[in-house]
Amino acid sequence: MCGIVGYIGHRQAYDVLMKGLHRLEYRGYDSAGIALMKEDGKLNVYKSKGRVADLEAKVVGCDVGGSIGIAHTRWATHGEPCDRNAHPQVSQSGRIALVHNGTIENYAVLKAALAQRGYAFASDTDTEVLVQLVDYIQTVNGCSLMDAVKEALAQVEGAYAIAVVERGNPDTLIVARKSSPLVIGVGVGEIFIASDATPMVGYTDRVIYLKDNEVAEITRPSNLKIQSLESGKTSAPDIQTLRMSVEQLEKGGYETFMLKEIFEQPHTLRDCIRGRIADDGQRVVLSGVLENRDRFLQARRMIIVACGTSWHAGLIGKRIIQELCCLPVEVEYASEFRYGHPQITDKDIVVALSQSGETADTLAAIQLAKSKGAFVYGICNVVGASIPRNTDSGTYIHVGPEIGVASTKAFTGQVAVLALLALCVGQERGTVGRDTICCITRAMRQMPEIIQAVLGLDPVIRELSRTFTYARNFLYLGRGYNYPTALEGALKLKEISYIHAEGYPAAEMKHGPIALIDHEMPVVVIAPDDSLHDKVVNNIRQVKSRGGLVIALVTQGDASIREMADYCLEMPKVPECLTPIVASVPLQLLAYHIARIKGKDVDRPRNLAKSVTVE
Ligand code: F6R
Repeated sequence: MCGIVGYIGHRQAYDVLMKGLHRLEYRGYDSAGIALMKEDGKLNVYKSKGRVADLEAKVVGCDVGGSIGIAHTRWATHGEPCDRNAHPQVSQSGRIALVHNGTIENYAVLKAALAQRGYAFASDTDTEVLVQLVDYIQTVNGCSLMDAVKEALAQVEGAYAIAVVERGNPDTLIVARKSSPLVIGVGVGEIFIASDATPMVGYTDRVIYLKDNEVAEITRPSNLKIQSLESGKTSAPDIQTLRMSVEQLEKGGYETFMLKEIFEQPHTLRDCIRGRIADDGQRVVLSGVLENRDRFLQARRMIIVACGTSWHAGLIGKRIIQELCCLPVEVEYASEFRYGHPQITDKDIVVALSQSGETADTLAAIQLAKSKGAFVYGICNVVGASIPRNTDSGTYIHVGPEIGVASTKAFTGQVAVLALLALCVGQERGTVGRDTICCITRAMRQMPEIIQAVLGLDPVIRELSRTFTYARNFLYLGRGYNYPTALEGALKLKEISYIHAEGYPAAEMKHGPIALIDHEMPVVVIAPDDSLHDKVVNNIRQVKSRGGLVIALVTQGDASIREMADYCLEMPKVPECLTPIVASVPLQLLAYHIARIKGKDVDRPRNLAKSVTVE
């Protein structure tokens, strides 16, 4: 969702910025733009609706020289996707260019005030209001760009990460953030800025995560002045080392990032559990839990807050934690939690679950939980993102950059970490026995081989997918641990193939959705050999008696379901709480192949963003 890139240094800014925009494409966007300044201070701005490639095509033959610039991919919030609304937005005088990620809540009031002072607006965006405001303040006060930006931001309500340049001033770039991420990369005689660190990989591994309410003035060759927007105090840059390689950001021979990420799961699950299970398998070591042992011993309740796929992982986590820790667990959509008057006390542990670590609703839920005294534990993938920096403690899932918009390896990583969390908290609270710990940790260690075996189903699933491209609706059914797996399978299919799909607890079907079943309705049933297996067999029977088409995911050797189902996919047996990890992989492949056969862009599905930084 909206990506920012900026550069000041000795290279051609155009090359760095375009490469950066391509790296940020995974975040989801509908238009792109770039502003470049030459040594003589001339500012050139180019914008295009559509892909970054469309922007590249548009600038062929244009002047793209200059060693300072800002660029943007926009995900429309205020105004339709079109050239006019794309960023950079430029002030009426043509002097200031600005890119923005986030939303300015009070833009209408500011716009009216500026209109009264003679400012006309060429776009529908809230961003244009901000750039005009900076221009106005500078014109009236005759101040520096830095001072004008600070003054403008003092008048703004909302969320933002911004980068600003000024015509005639090719030595200065200003950036600031509040609630939207911004990273500064420090090279030798050059500085990079971006919404996340991916555009910097290959240029520098020295990064600064700008904090909320901070503004930075960047001047040549690589001087940085970081100031608090609240207190005005200057702080020394906290430079951290980035551990991300160019190879991790490339497709590595796969046709899409999504397929690469599905196939990476044996390896990402290994990374996820590495160093977290004692050699004898009898203990789980999560430093985030052990260093805060008392909070976990005294806890009366856990509340998991998350959105989308992460929320599905949270539902699985709920069951594992309730089973192993004997603690009540609630799972809330972060967007509902924040406005739901939650009754929270200091005996609650709020677990914030997020791949990107930047989801606006989840961040707001964290702030609310903290303000009420809860201990907040983050489970996140992106190292250094806002969520891990705003929680009391936590665990990274360590599955590497997830570029495909549809979450795959992050989901299985989240479930694995939630299982480790349940084991670790359960062992400390004395609610889980050694045998159970050993049984689950043994299976977790075998997970890379198990998932490799499941990936062997790929050719069969690809073939099977051809049968279902006609379908306009799909039902996904599961029970217990695999009701959330059904929800996740349905979400994967709808988001990348645009086929309507719904997940249901299998037994709920007879209370309504059964009316939808006919010979054209594919019903995917997740039916491993677990404590609810026989119940699910009955549910399959009910679907078959109404002519439904059943695709069943079963444990190897399950003859009873094989007899009834139209298609059967077999998975290795694992402990019940880990079945969602195993079962979600064939569902990812099924969604993937159906979408590809239908010719969809699975890495960048329409209307979706990878990191949802607006409310
Ligand atoms: C779906 C998907 C989204 C995200 C959701 C939360 O494939 O990826 O539903 O799970 O937007 O994002 P994070 O986990 O980054 O907070």
